[in-house]
Amino acid sequence: MNEISQFSYGISVLEISYVIASVLFVIGLKMLSHPLSARRGNSLAAIGMGMAIIATILFHQKDGKPIGNIGFILAAIGIGTVIGWVIAKKVKMTAMPQLVSFFNGMGGAAAALISIMEFPHVRPELIAEHGMANGHVLAILIGLMIGTVSWAGSMIAFGKLDGWIGDMRIKAMKYVNLTIMAILIGFIVFIMTRQVQASAELMPYVYLMFAIAVVYGVLFVMPIGGADMPVVISLLNSFTGVAAAMGGFLYNNQAMLTGGILVGSAGTILTILMCKAMNRSLLNVIVGVFGGGGQAAGGEEGTVKEVSVTDAAVLLSYSKKVVIVPGYGLAVAQAQHLCHDLDKLLAEKGVEVKYAIHPVAGRMPGHMNVLLAEADVPYEQLVESDEINPDLPNTDVLVVIGANDVVNPAAEDDPSSPIYGMPIIMARDARNIIVMKRGMGKGYAAIENMLFFNPKTRMLFGDAKSTLQNLVNEVKSL
Ligand code: TAP
Repeated sequence: MNEISQFSYGISVLEISYVIASVLFVIGLKMLSHPLSARRGNSLAAIGMGMAIIATILFHQKDGKPIGNIGFILAAIGIGTVIGWVIAKKVKMTAMPQLVSFFNGMGGAAAALISIMEFPHVRPELIAEHGMANGHVLAILIGLMIGTVSWAGSMIAFGKLDGWIGDMRIKAMKYVNLTIMAILIGFIVFIMTRQVQASAELMPYVYLMFAIAVVYGVLFVMPIGGADMPVVISLLNSFTGVAAAMGGFLYNNQAMLTGGILVGSAGTILTILMCKAMNRSLLNVIVGVFGGGGQAAGGEEGTVKEVSVTDAAVLLSYSKKVVIVPGYGLAVAQAQHLCHDLDKLLAEKGVEVKYAIHPVAGRMPGHMNVLLAEADVPYEQLVESDEINPDLPNTDVLVVIGANDVVNPAAEDDPSSPIYGMPIIMARDARNIIVMKRGMGKGYAAIENMLFFNPKTRMLFGDAKSTLQNLVNEVKSL
């Protein structure tokens, strides 16, 4: 094979690999939309990514030369794979949101690093012809800004979800953040309108822009707390996608572009859905001014009534309609299999059992769907909160298992509450309410829940796993 045909052979194999990888990403993403196909979808997308990486290492060429530093690249891939593998194997299900946030941050950091590395290497002929105001520089600067914000914001979100970073509220935060955002855009305009021979001359401004973007990433996530974290997490995911897509433009790499656009658009759609679910505005999320850590509502709550396992079992067994509201505590207790055992036993007794799924129950989007799919709960039994709410007045017993914020009536009743306006599962509309939790602990938003003091509510205290085990035994014996 002569040199030219070898070159074009390399290019076409590379392009074909990118097209196949892109198709695998799209199919994988589609499969992620259903719990039953999600695992295979994830594997397909991972195969696509692996293929794109291998094809790039083998066939990518710059100025007709294959890429160098193969040893370093393989070593970095090896180290990254081992670290990622060990973390993913060891992580507890309940710590998944932190992990997702951390990994997302790494994506943002990679995009920002690409920009920092590539900025001084903008081709002099391009600058001579178009000045700094060209698409190449714009892609680098947008990638730098969004990638850095995503990295810094994700690290703060990681710390918050892991519980070692608290909320920080500054008065007029909205204006501070809007000003920083305007400064970042000002930097892009400033850099792109400079007259220089080589882009490297402007590196100090690029570093300054990086530092300011870090401040923005920190400040816009710091005040967000309480029940609003999921919205910001999906927004950060979309940022990383957009930043990666900028890398795709930069390198004219279709796989990177497709992957980035898919993550960016999926993240944006999820953010919009989350905003709707939480009744928040997208602009407020971007400038970090909504929600909050929440104050514990003090004062007279009323009395809490308990129920015994036996009474709860009787109540459930002689009901017609039961709705289970799973929450974060169910995931902590890893009691999803027992929960399914309970619903099967009740179904055998002729009880209709449904699960009410709130979009932000748990600690990550789709957390309850994944948790219940793991226990093989049929997907048809899961009903979105807005769909099940009208049915709750006809529900004999609503069983809250390890959920708190998503059934908190303060979202409806208390305009001063940080979760005010967030749509909830209208648990108090049910005829009877049983709440399973260990004690009177608060939920993620750290606010009191008046549902526990409602005259229709009976508390069944204890770890969800042992309580469910006792309940299953009791229902069996009836
Ligand atoms: P939470 O409001 O966090 O409440 C969970 C409850 O589970 C706690 O009150 C706790 O009470 C109980 N619990 C903990 N361990 C338990 C165990 N082993 N057995 C029984 N109960 C246990 O949960 P939620 O209702 O699912 O709401 C989710 C919250 O997290 C929302 O505020 C949401 O915005 C936020 N968030 C969600 C996401 C996503 S994307 N879903 C991401 C970040 C934050 P005790 O201590 O008394 O047992």
